[in-house]
Amino acid sequence: MYLDGTLVCACLVLAGQAEGRDLVTVEGIGSAESLHPVQAAFVEAGAVQCGFCTPGLIVATHDLLRRVPQPTTVQIREALAGNICRCTGYAKIIDAVHLAAGRMGSS
Ligand code: FES
Repeated sequence: MYLDGTLVCACLVLAGQAEGRDLVTVEGIGSAESLHPVQAAFVEAGAVQCGFCTPGLIVATHDLLRRVPQPTTVQIREALAGNICRCTGYAKIIDAVHLAAGRMGSS
């Protein structure tokens, strides 16, 4: 999630630390009616299986693409390190990031 605009690990932020601060989670990036391109890419690339890791990966990808619009696979792996996925094997997640980068770069 974003805490005052900075990407943080939500699981490491105590509720008291977030009081009165600006929080944005995956729900704040898009909506069910209008998915953000990163969210749509994860769905379309098959990067969502059980979904446990998905919110963190989508917010981390959103942050990466606003800093590095066309990241290399190495840059993607570095940016998403620490987001553990037990389902996908990461290949489809990397595909989703490239897909989102391509779409966001062409709009
Ligand atoms: Fe299940 Fe990532 S989709 S842990």
